[in-house]
Amino acid sequence: MKYKKYFRKTSLKQKGDGEFFLKEVKKKKPKIFLEIGVFHGVTARNVCELLAQIHNDDFKYIGLDLFEESDENKSEIIPNTNFSNPFKQIYFQYIKRQNPYSIEAVKDLLKKFENNIHLIKGNSNFVLKKIDMNKVDYVFLDGGHDYKTVKNDLNCCSEVINNNGTILCDDYNLSYAPGVKKAIDEFVKQKNLKCEILLNSRFAKIEKN
Ligand SMILES: C[S@@+](CC[C@H](N)C(=O)[O-])C[C@H]1O[C@@H](n2cnc3c(N)ncnc32)[C@H](O)[C@@H]1O
Repeated sequence: MKYKKYFRKTSLKQKGDGEFFLKEVKKKKPKIFLEIGVFHGVTARNVCELLAQIHNDDFKYIGLDLFEESDENKSEIIPNTNFSNPFKQIYFQYIKRQNPYSIEAVKDLLKKFENNIHLIKGNSNFVLKKIDMNKVDYVFLDGGHDYKTVKNDLNCCSEVINNNGTILCDDYNLSYAPGVKKAIDEFVKQKNLKCEILLNSRFAKIEKN
């Protein structure tokens, strides 16, 4: 399946990375998918399109993001939300009249799937522990890149692995965010899990041994 960009920004922007990601998700055919770090919702929309192809209406997508830059969130890395393409800037400012990095804009992008989605605005360090992980069978971990945040997010998702699910982590080996790799390596070692490093060290796929 082709990974579409929907005129927005995404971390899976390099040619082929989105398709690689969708192939990985397709292998597992998850029914309840959790994305930590939604940003403009591009991956969310692609995942919903894929899961609808596989399961028709019988799937759920849960997406969590800060959805705002604030003093409270200043320790987290938020990608630059401005467009270098002036047409995109004009499209969102004057035609859509939306900030693409807002829960409202992401809801709009996903409105075709309104009965399948659950978007949550909040910090994963506080919100994740309140989410029922019992039925979640796939996690795309792409939120905060700080060591403590990644460690928190992985620990909160341990149940997914215990139930034979998958956690796919993005940005495993980023030079400017070494905390991601450190947190993943520690988590895998402590819990004695299987970890496959994929796509030139971009993704770490964690599953039961
Ligand atoms: C790299 S982007 C996600 C890209 C998205 N997964 C995609 O494929 O296009 C990281 C996102 O994580 C969010 N984020 C950063 N720290 C967070 C935290 N502690 N809790 C929730 N979201 C967080 C940012 O707001 C940002 O939108």
